[in-house]
Amino acid sequence: MSKLWGGRFTKQTDQLVEEYTASISFDQQLAEEDIAGSLAHITMLGKQGIVPAEDVATIIAGLQRVLTRVQAGEMTYAVSDEDIHMNIEKALIEDIGSVGGKLHTGRSRNDQVATDMHLWLRKRVVELVQLLQQLQEALVEQAKQHLDTLIPGYTHLQRAQPILFAHHLMAYVAMFGRDAERLMDSYKRINVLPLGAGALAGTTFPIDRHFVAEQLKFDRVYENSLDAVSDRDFIVEFLADASIIMMHLSRLSEELILWSSTEFDFIELDDAFCTGSSIMPQKKNPDVPELVRGKTGRVYGNLMGLLTVLKSLPLAYNKDMQEDKEGMFDTVKTLQGALQLFAPMIRTMKVNRESMRRAVQQDFSNATDIADFLVGKGLPFREAHEVIGKTVLYCISQQKYLLDLTLEEFQQFSELFDGQIYEVLQPEQVVNARNIYGGTAKEQVAAAINRAELALADT
Ligand code: ARG
Repeated sequence: MSKLWGGRFTKQTDQLVEEYTASISFDQQLAEEDIAGSLAHITMLGKQGIVPAEDVATIIAGLQRVLTRVQAGEMTYAVSDEDIHMNIEKALIEDIGSVGGKLHTGRSRNDQVATDMHLWLRKRVVELVQLLQQLQEALVEQAKQHLDTLIPGYTHLQRAQPILFAHHLMAYVAMFGRDAERLMDSYKRINVLPLGAGALAGTTFPIDRHFVAEQLKFDRVYENSLDAVSDRDFIVEFLADASIIMMHLSRLSEELILWSSTEFDFIELDDAFCTGSSIMPQKKNPDVPELVRGKTGRVYGNLMGLLTVLKSLPLAYNKDMQEDKEGMFDTVKTLQGALQLFAPMIRTMKVNRESMRRAVQQDFSNATDIADFLVGKGLPFREAHEVIGKTVLYCISQQKYLLDLTLEEFQQFSELFDGQIYEVLQPEQVVNARNIYGGTAKEQVAAAINRAELALADT
């Protein structure tokens, strides 16, 4: 069979052009969505009396047979049929004959491809939200085990104040919570129907767009036909959301990699999530977080790629827009892969409480608290800061930590010190003193875990 659009042409397409312009190698992923859209469209054409009922029945039966072949992996696609839309239409016509040619009445590939993309992405977004929630659950589960595990909290990667390990994990629960929220919010803009826009200007047939929207469970239809076929904002937005998720995963990856180093020795990732070295027998490498950190780059690249494709594109459809697909498919696949691995990797990671404890004891991260102690005795904070700075300097010169100092040594720096400071300086005390909403005190973290569990159970 010749090209579906062959009428105007007197020559065959150049072989290289055919290959260059075809998208079937990647857009075959849209097959099921393409058929779903066609089923809704032909049903509407029947209802509106645009295509006779018996033809509609034949076309629906034919499309369903094509769908069965797609699902069974039995379809063969031809580059000469360019893309998924024409491959499916060809398969239909081969199956039911020329009546299949009535399917494309009142429709263009431009509104068709946009519809497919909306259908495809909305399904993946829901799946990704579920994967994010599974990761949140894994983090919450670990956090619950570590309401008594202290680690140094850092700023500038310098030890700052001790915190609960659970508190640190819950920060990521909050980050992934925002990510899920962002995706759900973008769903509003994904779940809009472009079909009916035709090539760009609408159609002369008395179609019913709202009926199609209802069948395909779209909340709304595009208001403007030009916008409907040229809008790819919803994909840009998805890629931006995906970039933020990858950025979060990459930050967590970086911490997992650091924490598993001999220098930190805070955690050990399960053997099942690490690999060895072909030359150094002792090595156990955190490949999964490293790769996730690395793959963040390609997701950012996909975002920049599509933004650049769309920049300066005149309305309405341009072939450039075919470039919207691979980045979106690749991003969904990359995110799915990372999220699927992260949840079990977090669940199975071993936490080295002793190492964390040692780290907390061997630092000055309780210094803020003795400054606060002096403030409690009436000293202005700036002066207290200065006093403690000097005390720390003294400790460093003596190779001691604050808790090693005698009361006499403390009192060389301020007469306001008394025996109570040994209590104040205990890491648990330091942590639990931060008993404000959102703080690291055990009571607050337990409450945060509670809130997160309720929110997760609610979704
Ligand atoms: N394969 C095309 C794409 O992905 C489908 C739309 C083609 N429309 C057209 N008028 N050539 O963008």
